[in-house]
Amino acid sequence: MNNTIEKYKEYVITSFVKNVQPIVIERAEGAIVTDDAGKEYIDCFAGISVVNAGHCNPEVTRAAKEQIDKLVHCCSYIYHNQPVADLAEKMANISPGKLKKTFFANSGAEAIEGALKLAKLYTGKHEIIALETSFHGRTLGALSVTGNAGRKKRGGPYAPGVVFAPAPHAFRQSDGDAEKFGEQCAEALRDRLRFHTSGDVAAFLAEPVLGEGGIVVPPANYFRYVKEILDEHDILFIADEVQSGFGRTGAMFAIEHYGVEPDILVTAKGIADGFPLGAFTTTDEIAAAFRPGDHLSTFGGNPVSCAAALANIEFLERERVPQKAREDGEYILENLRQMQRRTPAIGDIRGLGLMIGVELVAETNLKSDAARAEAVRDFCLKNGVLVGVGGVDGNVVRLQPPLVITREQIDRALDVFERSLAETGAENQAAVENHLPSSPTHSQSSSPAIAVER
Ligand SMILES: Cc1ncc(COP(=O)(O)O)c(C=O)c1O
Repeated sequence: MNNTIEKYKEYVITSFVKNVQPIVIERAEGAIVTDDAGKEYIDCFAGISVVNAGHCNPEVTRAAKEQIDKLVHCCSYIYHNQPVADLAEKMANISPGKLKKTFFANSGAEAIEGALKLAKLYTGKHEIIALETSFHGRTLGALSVTGNAGRKKRGGPYAPGVVFAPAPHAFRQSDGDAEKFGEQCAEALRDRLRFHTSGDVAAFLAEPVLGEGGIVVPPANYFRYVKEILDEHDILFIADEVQSGFGRTGAMFAIEHYGVEPDILVTAKGIADGFPLGAFTTTDEIAAAFRPGDHLSTFGGNPVSCAAALANIEFLERERVPQKAREDGEYILENLRQMQRRTPAIGDIRGLGLMIGVELVAETNLKSDAARAEAVRDFCLKNGVLVGVGGVDGNVVRLQPPLVITREQIDRALDVFERSLAETGAENQAAVENHLPSSPTHSQSSSPAIAVER
């Protein structure tokens, strides 16, 4: 059998989407991917928010190639190797506050599992509070703390001792007063602690910007308020920056926008520009809770991935990529806001840096329009632009390009995106009215721009 798509159908287990996107990607560079017929696409999804420094960034691939010829594997937890040591030092330098020691794993989910274990060992407590609409990975522990039944179908039972607090998601819920809404959401966490746990809570786990939940940017005061509550109860704050880290939101880590230091920082995706690597970084004191035998990963801290990660982070720092992401993000948001005035299908626009979500709704009411989001994604693909789709109702178009995307590429992509809204309108509407994924239960916020302090 020779055909890639046929072989996928026959031999590859794919279950996330009904159909894997009907293209075969052969090569990629910067923000451009090329299929096996030579057609180019502007990538506005970056392999799910991964290749922040661009596809096949030459500095990253060079570092990996050099490392491949020296040492591919030795088990980084039994023998020392230099890429792990150098990368751990770099992580200490770029992580907020007192965070200093890193454990390296292979993926986001694996890093989440390790972080949860460490929090329990350090505190001697056992429960976890996470957020509704959150996503933390596909392993059993990570799904247990994921606040979205849609991602957990038929996989239970999940781990006990997990409580979910309301997501600080203003759309349809806030009257536009972001500060008041931030406080209300933080107070809801206090209620959860009081009425839904046994008071044995080890950690609060949250994404500083919720990715899979539909690019939800919490109000500027939310995490500060939350941290005060956590400190009152000696609960650790684990920030899941798997999706929001490494410049994506316009800062090296999204939590920096909120002026709060997490106790454990979990990373993956953008850490190595596409090489598989996950990590959690914490303080000396918390790290010391691991005793011999407590934790290991055979491939974790793979020297090639670590060498790539180091080159990646050096590139992001030297080229001031987070700053660029911030400016480009503001540019895109402004363009989208103008588009929203012309397009009633855009219910809400959210974003920080180049982590942007456009929530599509039925044109006559605010019902989530998942069919439209899929149609938009398909139109964009046909017209040479890759976008993502997410959100708990599947109606959020996600724009999370490589951070090195050029303005000219951004303009072309926005042009295709606006055309996609025009082209997918009327014929789609009847289907939406008949198959509504959810209906709003709250009055609409006027899409308040949630200005996060910088
Ligand atoms: C916030 C967040 N945490 C954890 C994960 C899991 O990462 P991985 O797919 O590398 O296991 C993801 C993946 O999308 C994520 O977005």
